Amino acid sequence: MKRFKKSNKFFKKVSRVIPLASQTFSKSYLQFIKGQAPLFLERGAGARVWDIDGHEYIDFINGLLSVILGYRYPAVDKAIKKQLERGISLSLSSPLEYELAELLKKHIPCAEMVRFGKNGSDVTSGAVRLARAVTKRDHIIVCGYHGWHDWYIGSTTRHLGVPESTRKLTHKFVYNNIDSLEKILKRYKGQVAAVIMEPMSYEEPKDNFLQKVKKITHEHGALLIFDEVITGFHFSLGGAQKYYGVTPDLAAFGKAMANGMPIAALVGRRKYMQKVGDIFYSFTFGGEALSLAAAIATIKEMERRNVIGYLWRLGKYLQDNTRGLLAKYGLDVIIKVEGKPFWQVFIISQHKKYSGLEIKSFIQQEVLQAGFLWYGQHNMSFSHTRRDIDKLLVAYDDIFGRLKEYLESDKLRRHLKGKPITNIFKVR
Ligand SMILES: Cc1ncc(COP(=O)(O)O)c(C=O)c1O
Repeated sequence: MKRFKKSNKFFKKVSRVIPLASQTFSKSYLQFIKGQAPLFLERGAGARVWDIDGHEYIDFINGLLSVILGYRYPAVDKAIKKQLERGISLSLSSPLEYELAELLKKHIPCAEMVRFGKNGSDVTSGAVRLARAVTKRDHIIVCGYHGWHDWYIGSTTRHLGVPESTRKLTHKFVYNNIDSLEKILKRYKGQVAAVIMEPMSYEEPKDNFLQKVKKITHEHGALLIFDEVITGFHFSLGGAQKYYGVTPDLAAFGKAMANGMPIAALVGRRKYMQKVGDIFYSFTFGGEALSLAAAIATIKEMERRNVIGYLWRLGKYLQDNTRGLLAKYGLDVIIKVEGKPFWQVFIISQHKKYSGLEIKSFIQQEVLQAGFLWYGQHNMSFSHTRRDIDKLLVAYDDIFGRLKEYLESDKLRRHLKGKPITNIFKVR
């Protein structure tokens, strides 16, 4: 049985100097069953990671969808090492910026011009500021998750510290509900700078939804921004905009772009992007060369090896069979595995006296014991093999069977070894 002695002890120490004991909400203890999960990883290779207690896991988190090829992927590491020999942050712009911009331009339909950032939040915020500058309007309409900056996070339940005046400028609409968008556009007629949305999260666009969003956004004189921080490099090398055939005015890419190195891209139509020089969009590490080299190597590897096709095929095999196992135990009403094959999300509802989070905590506790790093999603990597997936399915077969039994006999709580996950911040 896996124990997490070092993780739990180290957590206490770290918590005294690092709030949340993590730099990222989704990597923090808040996502895990208390005391019964690893909280710190020491290293990764391929699709595997090792925690500080020495346990090995097949990883289904994969750096929050950033590690698309796998840890220590040779072609990417080689490019990083080569650049390391030449310097990391040189005092003028690197020629690699142009090379990467051209690569993105080749693949992404709206990318007539390109600027870089480090995090997804840099480029969604850059896009929003640009749209405000272009339209000379202040209001923003959002759909999905767009990062930690004031203009967006003010519209969520985690808005502590965001001025009320900023919060009033952002409005949420509902995916696949065109009326919810139209209502806001009409209410703030002539004041909306942009509609920013994830082209898809785990719900499929229905009834030409994206086409309709584009039309109505333009009719109201606003810019359409696709937040492709997740969909980018996963739907196609040109993102969801290429896959669905709907080209936005601006788009934000990040995460998987450099197989885990920190880089993001703000791309868009030339007539808008030319104005990026007029707003203030600038930071010390915007042209940091290791990440540029890693991004070029990652994209070229994806061009060469049909990485996306592989993620979708293997992911579909996992998704279909997970659903099959849930149905086998009659759990498919309570637990759904939604989303596209490369990024599947467990949607777990309450059952009898058990909350969705208690049920999730039980599955997590057991899946971790079986040797998989898991937080309720299947984030696919090119390093996952069919054997890895089959192992997970064998574990699910056992875990779902027991879950069913404990739910039926009202004994689930008795089998939870730690306090369940409680504080999940939901934005999608
Ligand atoms: C769709 C989407 N947009 C924006 C962001 C923000 O990116 P980052 O955390 O790199 O700032 C995320 C992060 O999860 C995301 O999923």
